[in-house]
Amino acid sequence: MEGVGITVMEHLLIHQKEAPMATGKFTRLLTELIFSAKIIAREVRKAGLVDILGLTGEINVQGEQVRKLDEYANRILIYRMQRAGVLCAMASEENADIIEIPDNLPKGDYLLIFDPLDGSSNIDANVNIGTIFSIRKKTSDRAYVTLEDFLQKGTEQVAAGYFLYGSSTMLVYTTGNGVHGFTLDPSVGEFLLSHPNIQIPEIGKIYSVNEAYTMYWDERTKNTVNYFKSDKNLRGKPYSSRYIGSLVADFHRNLLYGGIFMYPADKRDPAKPHGKLRLLCEAAPLAMVVEQAGGAATDGKQRILDIKPEALHQRVPLFIGSKKDVEKATELMQQG
Ligand code: AHG
Ligand code: MN
Ligand code: MN
Repeated sequence: MEGVGITVMEHLLIHQKEAPMATGKFTRLLTELIFSAKIIAREVRKAGLVDILGLTGEINVQGEQVRKLDEYANRILIYRMQRAGVLCAMASEENADIIEIPDNLPKGDYLLIFDPLDGSSNIDANVNIGTIFSIRKKTSDRAYVTLEDFLQKGTEQVAAGYFLYGSSTMLVYTTGNGVHGFTLDPSVGEFLLSHPNIQIPEIGKIYSVNEAYTMYWDERTKNTVNYFKSDKNLRGKPYSSRYIGSLVADFHRNLLYGGIFMYPADKRDPAKPHGKLRLLCEAAPLAMVVEQAGGAATDGKQRILDIKPEALHQRVPLFIGSKKDVEKATELMQQG
């Protein structure tokens, strides 16, 4: 019927048979996640008008300054997802330890990991930011949740995706059966299917990396980035440089247009020898999305989804995007 879009729930039900894990519990989890994102989107939209910009003055577990919207998004997600009755625990980029579900609240057997607000350094400049999420199932038969339940390979994710707060508010996610994009129609308050079955071009035309760190890269990394800036690549001409400083926004643009995003290891900070991005709440969820869209994601050596995490906030180098470009970058990163 003309003019009526498909909501996320209708889309889930239509594809229920292909996604047996999309049970009532999963639908409840996704519904609560969507509601939390709508609240965050509302605050992001009016951020310039109310005193929610700027810094809280605190430093988070990542050693980064916490911005008010970071903290607001984190609080909304924790509060609402604790009451969804489908989780046995959560982990947030902003919290040092795993987040339990209080005894007086109903529990389920899903685990949720999230970056409540990605790209937060851009908040005050009204540049696209987002929320990245990873959904897993508790696999151990222990009665209680431990850190070990979170330290599973990315291949264990049952769903992953992100919300993008930009010119429109979008949800892009996968349950392992392709990647689908939904755009929030504020007039009805629903995310409607706008990008069914997203497929990332096999060869891109964009490279995204912060070249301010060139002097901190090793020779292989310099060679890899220069490959995309030369005419000796799969395009036969330089890729366009696009880097906005919000992983979720850079990733989303490259997912639609084709391209590679790189955040290599650098020697800037001895405490962060593997680069800045986090495996569990940034690299692994986006790696599931990009692989489901026909792309690839590695740490310059191995597939991101095959990495067994050792720590909750483990950082990894990230090469993610168009399949042929990531394969080539990974090959160059392995050259002696
Ligand atoms: P977050 O806001 O969740 O801390 O993530 C910021 C990340 C990511 O969004 C972006 O790609 C990267 O930081 C930018 O880092 P640089 O400023 O070092 O390039
Ligand atoms: Mn982030
Ligand atoms: Mn963040």
